[in-house]
Amino acid sequence: MHSLPSTAMRMTLAAISVFLAGEALAQSNHSQAESPIYDPTNATIFQMSADPGQAFFMLNTVSLAKGGGSDVGEVFRIATQIQPGNEDSVYSAFMPFADKIHTLAESIDPRIDPVGARENYFHASTYYRSASYYLVANPDDPPVALLQPPGEPFTVRAKNSSIGLYDVPAYFFKADASCDKPLPTIVIITGYDASQQDEYHAQCIEGLRRGFNCVTLEGPGQPSPRRYQGLPFIPDYWTALIPVIDNIVTRKDVDISKIILLGESFGGTLGAIAASHEPRLAGLICLDGLASLQKVIASRIDPLLDLFESGNKTAFDQAVYEGLINNASQPLSSRYYFQQSLYTFKTKSPFDWFTQLGKISMTIETVQGVGQRPVYVAKGQDDTLTGNAADVALKMFQEERPNGKNLTYFHEFTTDLGAGEHCSIGTETQVWTSFAAWMHRTWGFKFSNVAYST
Ligand SMILES: *[C@@H]1O[C@H](CO)[C@@H](O)[C@H](O)[C@H]1NC(C)=O
Ligand SMILES: *[C@@H]1O[C@H](CO)[C@@H](O)[C@H](O)[C@H]1NC(C)=O
Ligand SMILES: *[C@@H]1O[C@H](CO)[C@@H](O)[C@H](O)[C@H]1NC(C)=O
Ligand SMILES: *[C@@H]1O[C@H](CO)[C@@H](O)[C@H](O)[C@H]1NC(C)=O
Ligand SMILES: *[C@@H]1O[C@H](CO)[C@@H](O)[C@H](O)[C@H]1NC(C)=O
Ligand SMILES: *[C@@H]1O[C@H](CO)[C@@H](O)[C@H](O)[C@H]1NC(C)=O
Repeated sequence: MHSLPSTAMRMTLAAISVFLAGEALAQSNHSQAESPIYDPTNATIFQMSADPGQAFFMLNTVSLAKGGGSDVGEVFRIATQIQPGNEDSVYSAFMPFADKIHTLAESIDPRIDPVGARENYFHASTYYRSASYYLVANPDDPPVALLQPPGEPFTVRAKNSSIGLYDVPAYFFKADASCDKPLPTIVIITGYDASQQDEYHAQCIEGLRRGFNCVTLEGPGQPSPRRYQGLPFIPDYWTALIPVIDNIVTRKDVDISKIILLGESFGGTLGAIAASHEPRLAGLICLDGLASLQKVIASRIDPLLDLFESGNKTAFDQAVYEGLINNASQPLSSRYYFQQSLYTFKTKSPFDWFTQLGKISMTIETVQGVGQRPVYVAKGQDDTLTGNAADVALKMFQEERPNGKNLTYFHEFTTDLGAGEHCSIGTETQVWTSFAAWMHRTWGFKFSNVAYST
């Protein structure tokens, strides 16, 4: 398993924050992006960069610390080397740091200090992935074999009618090494360019410590399938999920009546779509609810939207290239967002990307396919990236299915507790406290207290 030239969508979405917020478009020097005025005494997050997109990206990296994916002092030090709005400086700050921590990890004999080896390898892996946020990084092997119990990488065969057979890389993380007792299992779908490795540190750890097995995967459009198999996002994401579920239901240590899907960010959309075709899931968590990324973007690009809706592909493509992608006056975040989008949808045409993106949205059929299963919809109070998309998703799950109000739980994470940003990153304890309470109320689950190694 390789780590990927990617970061979480949590991060790529960060890239559109400035653009979509419409706050920082008037600037003339893209290497010194002007930012919305940042008031450190009262901001949704404490910004490690004056550039809001980079600040969100750095918050993501530091948020992996608790789950063993980074260390706080290391990320703070790296942050001192990054110039706001300058993508090259992200690479040049992270890359040598990653190399040094990697060298440190290599210097450790895992028979003498397995924890030191594992943790330094994990930190180096994260810094390599972070270095590649704006650029292509060195692949690196995450040290899941050094976990206790070891993480189990596996690959399943999937099939989409037009692209044929493809591979879905996944990991199984076992909560209880001491026995094969069937345990509840959380399956995690990452986002727009999220790596499943980030999800291990951010979400799996929280589940594992509560006695849940954890499974992560990446489907078409997501980092590894995009890079190594050339696969763009597809509307039938369930074709990736179903064979993963086929695989895990054969395991003795999985309680097949307690498999819960957690989709993060754009994974909230993909997860709902996949769940609507996979009846073996007991429930669904959308962290956050993201009914339609296309609609979020559409609501904020009014002038371009008219062109899009006119159906003039040539004109729309030209406007996006000239006005945004090749426009040095645009902030890094907006230029980068469009480039990344074209990459993950494997097209040179913004019109084509925006059209395909629209097909990956929650619909009434999605909600009805999820049917009578409990759904948890999360929202960050001051989500700068997806605005009110969670409210839209909530309304759909409540109104477009019988008994929807009873079956849908909504939780807004608040800014006063540091949890108001997109996906409430960096406050995973609060997030899982709420998940656990919901699971207890819904299914009577009780949680263990596992000393799981990070
Ligand atoms: C942009 O900012 C850099 C760094 O401060 C500076 O060297 C450069 O001259 C600026 N370019 C323009 C066009 O203002
Ligand atoms: C502080 O933040 C809150 C929430 O975003 C906002 O309502 C309030 O106006 C801010 N106060 C100041 C002084 O900026
Ligand atoms: C399969 O993938 C192709 C290529 O991305 C896509 O156009 C098609 O809609 C997908 N099939 C289904 C049923 O979604
Ligand atoms: C589409 O836009 C292009 C360039 O902006 C223009 O030349 C062309 O006439 C338009 N096509 C139609 C069918 O309106
Ligand atoms: C480039 O971006 C700037 C800043 O938003 C904008 O004022 C300008 O019109 C854009 N250029 C083009 C060609 O659209
Ligand atoms: C409400 O949903 C729960 C499951 O979340 C179910 O156990 C309960 O019977 C439902 N109540 C009604 C009135 O449908």
